[in-house]
Amino acid sequence: MLVSMRVLFATAELSPIAAVGGLAAAAAGLGIELRRAGVDVDLVMPDYGGISLVDEVSIELDVPDWAGPAVVRRGHHVDVGALTLISAPGLARSHPYLQPDGSGWDDNSERFFRFGRAIAALAELERPDVLHLNDWHTGSALAALVDGPPTVVSIHNLAYQGIADGSWLDLIGPHADHFEWWGGTNPLSGALALADRIVAVSPRYASEIRTPQGGFGLDGPLSERADALLGILNGIDTDVWNPATDAHLPANFRPASVAAKATNRLALLERFGFDDDPTLLATVVTRLTEQKGIDLLVPLIPLLEQIPLRLGLLGSGDAVLAAQLRRLADQYPHHFAFVEGYDESLSHQMFGGADMFLMPSRFEPCGLTQMQAMRYGTVPVVTAVGGLVDTVPDADEHDDGLGFVAKEATPEHLLAALFRATRRLSTKTRRTEIQKRMMNVDWSWVRPAQRYAELYRELLDGAKA
Ligand code: ADP
Ligand code: GLC
Repeated sequence: MLVSMRVLFATAELSPIAAVGGLAAAAAGLGIELRRAGVDVDLVMPDYGGISLVDEVSIELDVPDWAGPAVVRRGHHVDVGALTLISAPGLARSHPYLQPDGSGWDDNSERFFRFGRAIAALAELERPDVLHLNDWHTGSALAALVDGPPTVVSIHNLAYQGIADGSWLDLIGPHADHFEWWGGTNPLSGALALADRIVAVSPRYASEIRTPQGGFGLDGPLSERADALLGILNGIDTDVWNPATDAHLPANFRPASVAAKATNRLALLERFGFDDDPTLLATVVTRLTEQKGIDLLVPLIPLLEQIPLRLGLLGSGDAVLAAQLRRLADQYPHHFAFVEGYDESLSHQMFGGADMFLMPSRFEPCGLTQMQAMRYGTVPVVTAVGGLVDTVPDADEHDDGLGFVAKEATPEHLLAALFRATRRLSTKTRRTEIQKRMMNVDWSWVRPAQRYAELYRELLDGAKA
């Protein structure tokens, strides 16, 4: 039955071609697993430049002057298989959103309005069974889509909406009035009003975004669409994130051989310049943004010695926070290490060698890193938000607990959770018990992809009825 379904899946990021955050991993992980399940997924992304395809064909799209010329390059990509690239003026850049100095490209609005317009043209030309959009970068497609298939919009992060000047309302298409937002143009709000289904990337996030605290101004419109809104938890790529085969790790291990983590731990202690002793080792792998709550850990760093706990943090982003973390690393070299940057190999080693993984997020639509940590037998200590609630039952409250949850995103609550975690994990038998349980959970995309396939099928049946 599923073999006949063709889905146009549009995203601004796709691993490993263009990755800024979890959107890239989620798009690739879901797209590829859906293909394995027999859904014909057309992965569509901007042609940022320098992307090689084989067996390439190109198609010129019919778009208005402001959006063109828009051309599709379609072919086979070595990592993701079949791939459709959209080129339009301004899309090709060294980074999807940012200039080398870290600020956004001045023309980001027009770049992604053009991308949206091209997606709509492609959907009308090829008539897939379902059009699946992701986040604001693709949302404006629904302003132009007149005679299109049923549509799904996934919300990966409501904090980013791509709000632009109101003058875009004259250009983006016949449904532009849904995109009017306090005098401006909001590519996400319009998409949320018009999509047949809205998917939040975790069930908890699906309810949080309907509240003033979690809605980033869109809680009203989302509440109105409550019947169309559902949460489907992300997965992770369990081939990439596999401690039994991961080439980045000094020692590979499985649930039955989790003791071999000790070799990875030792290598990590050396990397961070920490002493080789039994004091627990926590890690953080993150973007440095307000969302991730790393500033909440700052007042705890001088206290680490008393917990006792050591912390290694890998992150890039906010320059002020990075400078603060550098100073703290100089001040407390025995307990805190900071590596600034985006380092895939080191990130694997930090999941593979640590005892604990910290995620003090203020909000977290889903979060992939806590799942990556658990897959590697590293116990998460998280805040009670979004996908963290859905993936990390507290080990002090549930027999089948997988981590430790701070009730609120404050230094005090995080400290209390860290105390509870260190107490539990200091006993080897308790630690091993939680580790094996976490490693045996199915974190793959198999179940999420089934849920999306069911959703597509439901829409298709509805459209035919
Ligand atoms: P978000 O998308 O909000 O940043 P997620 O947890 O969904 O958060 O996904 C982040 C992804 O990026 C994960 O795969 C994580 O391992 C990776 N990542 C984040 N920061 C870094 C970093 N500094 N170095 C290497 N990988 C990172
Ligand atoms: C966003 C969210 C993150 C989520 C990711 C993939 O970047 O911040 O929580 O895991 O998208 O859906």
